Amino acid sequence: MRAALYERTGPAGEVLWVDEIARPSPGRGEVLVRVAVSGVNPTDVKSRSGLTPRPIPGFQVPHQDGAGVIEAVGEGVDPSRIGERVWLWMAAVGQWGTAAQWSLVSSEQAVALAAGSSYALGACLGVPAMTAHHCLFADGPLDGAAVLVAGGAGAVGHYAIELARRAGARVAATVSSTAKAELARNAGADLVVDYRSPHALDLLRDFAPVMDRIVEVNLPANLDVDLQLSGPGTTLVVYASSGPDPTIPVRRCMSANVLLRFMLLYGLPRPALLAAAADIADAAGEGALSELPLHRYGLDDIVQAHEAVEAGVVGKVIVEP
Ligand SMILES: NC(=O)c1ccc[n+]([C@@H]2O[C@H](COP(=O)([O-])OP(=O)(O)OC[C@H]3O[C@@H](n4cnc5c(N)ncnc54)[C@H](OP(=O)(O)O)[C@@H]3O)[C@@H](O)[C@H]2O)c1
Repeated sequence: MRAALYERTGPAGEVLWVDEIARPSPGRGEVLVRVAVSGVNPTDVKSRSGLTPRPIPGFQVPHQDGAGVIEAVGEGVDPSRIGERVWLWMAAVGQWGTAAQWSLVSSEQAVALAAGSSYALGACLGVPAMTAHHCLFADGPLDGAAVLVAGGAGAVGHYAIELARRAGARVAATVSSTAKAELARNAGADLVVDYRSPHALDLLRDFAPVMDRIVEVNLPANLDVDLQLSGPGTTLVVYASSGPDPTIPVRRCMSANVLLRFMLLYGLPRPALLAAAADIADAAGEGALSELPLHRYGLDDIVQAHEAVEAGVVGKVIVEP
């Protein structure tokens, strides 16, 4: 099969290449998936670059997320799954990520893709939607809650808005451009605010003086504003950060009675991952989740696909093997 590979970490143009390699066969509990669309996330780029290195078992086929059709199953997996359209999560925690014609994952990491959902949507769900789901629901349901999504046009932010709205929350989102504002509004945000505006905090306070959840993409930049919107009942969930770590203002956090939660998808307990995947599958089946604007690349353009993610394109980079 044709696959993108790397054997060592480094810049995309130096370490990524496409080669013909032997197709893996499913072992016990595994499924072999013919990949239609591979989704590229910042985490794939960080793993390949060495910023957040992961063990490389000789070679690594990159990309955690993807969607396609189950072509073969290993021992212990119901053969009726053959032919099923599926989306995959955390494929590159093993060797066989989705940047290839076939990927190999455990049966539970291949989740049925609703008939009305595109492969491109399926390839967007793994890392972004599962992260958004955990940020939103790890501390309980959200019906009637006020939610702030920082970075509402990012991939995680997009699904955080859609999943929160589906759960009955009112959602405010922050962005930094009119194009991103339109994306966040289309996802269903009730209020969209340019976080660079001097009026941002006032607008957010008018929306909800105390947020129930804050889904935070950049804690050092936003901690001060987040705490001004926090009180008893606020959970501030941090899934990303940029720049030096902030000093936690302990007295202000105590006064706010805020709950701080940090999360990294790779370290979540398996039952939490499975529960998130199941609810996301339901949401996609209901039509509650949408594709971001797509930037399409072929497998031979894998380097350019990674560079597009590094450049921070608005929307989602996908590779079609
Ligand atoms: N902890 C985990 O398990 C986990 C899981 C998934 C992703 N992540 C990490 O989360 C980050 C985002 O992932 P993604 O896939 O959503 O990336 P993405 O699609 O590139 O979106 C990132 C968004 O963050 C926004 N942003 C940056 N600084 C901001 C600020 N100060 N205030 C508000 N928004 C801000 C950007 O908007 P502007 O350019 O307009 O600022 C952009 O829309 C990445 O670093 C990724 O590695 C972590």
